[in-house]
Amino acid sequence: MTSPLLQVRDLSVSFASRKGQTAIIETLSFHVDEGETLCIVGESGSGKTVALMSMLGLLDPRSARVEGEALFKGRNMLQASERELQRIRGREIALISQDPMTALTPVHTIGWQIVEQIRTHTGLSRRAAEARALELLGEVGIARPRMVAEQYPHQLSGGMRQRVVIAMALSCNPSLLIADEPTTALDVTVQAQVLDLLRRLRRDFGSSIVLITHDMGVVAEMADRVLVMYGGRVVEEGQTEAIFSDPWHPYTWGLLDSIPPLDGPRPERLFSIPGSPPQPDRRPAGCIFRPRCRAALPECNLAPPRQRGADRNALCFLDEGERPVARSAARRSEEQPA
Ligand SMILES: Nc1ncnc2c1ncn2[C@@H]1O[C@H](COP(=O)(O)OP(=O)(O)O)[C@@H](O)[C@H]1O
Ligand SMILES: [Mg+2]
Repeated sequence: MTSPLLQVRDLSVSFASRKGQTAIIETLSFHVDEGETLCIVGESGSGKTVALMSMLGLLDPRSARVEGEALFKGRNMLQASERELQRIRGREIALISQDPMTALTPVHTIGWQIVEQIRTHTGLSRRAAEARALELLGEVGIARPRMVAEQYPHQLSGGMRQRVVIAMALSCNPSLLIADEPTTALDVTVQAQVLDLLRRLRRDFGSSIVLITHDMGVVAEMADRVLVMYGGRVVEEGQTEAIFSDPWHPYTWGLLDSIPPLDGPRPERLFSIPGSPPQPDRRPAGCIFRPRCRAALPECNLAPPRQRGADRNALCFLDEGERPVARSAARRSEEQPA
């Protein structure tokens, strides 16, 4: 068996606050294989961004305490020097964030920025880097690379800017692309184009992708495997098909029930999970989802066990026999709200 490209083990992150340390991520473990797309899904505040920033050494060490391991090609990034991390982030792992402006400088042209990026990490000559920059802009579906290269970021639409950032991310042939809600700020048509672009990258370059989203619709389209996060933990993890055809965790039921139907009449109101995620310093003991759970049992005030199956696991007391009954009871109670 080959080892995974990225293996995260027992990652924990806490921030110093006036009240002491507040835990944000607790013992998070997952892996990413070569060439696969892993989606990390969860409502806003689940800790998705903090998890990836901590892995890449991008949190401020004065306030963040990070423990555990994040092995990339066998090297623990949490123990790496700043120099080594910069090398990994530039050449091997590319990060695309929700707001493309964070990756672009307003004062330089697009072409200049891509060329600089290429030259810093590859040592190509200026002329070769310029040619490569135009090629990359073409690869991300920009019709007039020469014209766009001469423009400044503010002259482009949000969708075009995100394409430019993806082109920059690709300039070093990264083996792992991490995209943190890359389409959240874009309208639906542009969103579809960007997702299409990510799919092409995987196909043509064999890149591994970690795609972070709060949208189960995006997961359905993109993921090989899914990690469902809630309150800084993985509550369910498995193959996409398994999760969509038979979700185990009541939080996953809720996420799936909130996807708008693709066809047929649209319901008057889409389901949304009642309540909101707990503040990190007010997480309940036992199962953190218990206050919002439609199937909570008395034992849920204790730490839930991890249920395991062939292609999946979930952090929940409900076992195989109890799940279907609990889910249909939960559905009935939604149809007749108290
Ligand atoms: N620098 C920080 N200091 C303290 N708390 C933080 C910091 N960054 C994020 N958090 C908290 O961590 C939690 C998870 O945030 P985040 O990872 O951004 O969630 P997501 O990306 O899933 O929406 C939130 O409650 C947020 O307020
Ligand atoms: Mg986030």
